[in-house]
Amino acid sequence: MSASDTASYLLLDHVRKVYVGKRRSSVVAVDDVSLEVRRGEFVTLLGPSGCGKTTTLRMIAGFVRPTSGRVYMKGSDVTDVAAHRRDCPLVFQDYALFPHLTVFENIAYGLRARRASRQQIHHDVAVACQMVNLIGLEDRHPRQLPGGQQQRVALARALDLKPEIILFDEPLSNLDAKLRIQTRTEIRRVQKLLGITALYVTHDQTEAMSLSDRIIIMHRGRVIQTGTPEEIYHRPATPFVSDFIGNANFLDGEVEHVSGTMVQVNLGTASIRLPADQCEPGIEPGEDVVIAVKPEAVSVGPVGDGMTGQVDYAGFVGPATEYRILFGDTFLTALQPHFHSGVAAFAVGDTVGLHFQDDAIRVYRLGA
Ligand SMILES: Nc1ncnc2c1ncn2[C@@H]1O[C@H](COP(=O)(O)OP(=O)(O)OP(=O)(O)O)[C@@H](O)[C@H]1O
Ligand SMILES: [Mg+2]
Repeated sequence: MSASDTASYLLLDHVRKVYVGKRRSSVVAVDDVSLEVRRGEFVTLLGPSGCGKTTTLRMIAGFVRPTSGRVYMKGSDVTDVAAHRRDCPLVFQDYALFPHLTVFENIAYGLRARRASRQQIHHDVAVACQMVNLIGLEDRHPRQLPGGQQQRVALARALDLKPEIILFDEPLSNLDAKLRIQTRTEIRRVQKLLGITALYVTHDQTEAMSLSDRIIIMHRGRVIQTGTPEEIYHRPATPFVSDFIGNANFLDGEVEHVSGTMVQVNLGTASIRLPADQCEPGIEPGEDVVIAVKPEAVSVGPVGDGMTGQVDYAGFVGPATEYRILFGDTFLTALQPHFHSGVAAFAVGDTVGLHFQDDAIRVYRLGA
């Protein structure tokens, strides 16, 4: 990557942030992160609590200075540029609305600060209200609105400044499940409509999958994998990503055979064959591996001539039954949809046949 790459709207080049606390104890919050967001793209930083998402976002917004590395916007180095001159608003979960101002005045705030004309303000606020469905609520105060609408006001206020890049830090985490889905759909619609470049932070994988053109997975201050939602879901690069994205089951195994495009792995109680492109490259016979299988890729059925297990728990979770199955000396989680499976539910204690959806298995070297 280079700073002159004009396709990159936003570029982080080997950025690192070390917080130095009392008695000189230090925390490496962001560790050598390089990433790129292209013009008009919706990119999400996804990772567990404490992995450095907010710190990364705040370095882009200009509120935190990197310990080392550079931040570029539209090809210019902005590492030393003050936050208010970067033109990239940050929308976060607490809305940060002014309680004593009406919806109209909250949205108009940034425009007034920029000394926009009265006419311009009225026009721009009306457009923003239209865009995020706040028409008719302009005279209310924030506390008179439910959380979802307050978040729309915050979004309208950010949009009114016509930013080229907009940053979101878990903007939906204060909303209930249904409103979260509605509001995220709204955010995506408006972002596409306006062609704004967006960098969004969340620790919710479903939210990331449904919103993003690309996802960047972070863990312990580092970027672990970058890809489209489909790539990340189907080809998680490490066991951590498999677990974080798909709540995968992990099984120990040993590579038995590698022949051209197929690999055979011994799981102790069974042996499975799968395409080599689902394994880490260069894997060899005799190597210890760990196998990741998503719960939705484990099918449970009548005993046949394949693998078997014993039902240890069966729970109704709405669209599916969740099973915990004793397989050899480990437990597997299986998610069996009620519809289309054509298989009746099994009860605790039943012996069942198991099948792993071949293309949903990933094989990692031990310690990957
Ligand atoms: N101002 C600070 N001073 C010292 N340490 C900090 C500071 N801000 C964050 N940290 C530490 O840096 C690490 C990364 O924090 P950060 O807030 O960036 O993570 P996050 O991914 O946003 O987490 P969450 O999902 O909980 O919001 C954590 O270990 C955190 O405790
Ligand atoms: Mg955070």
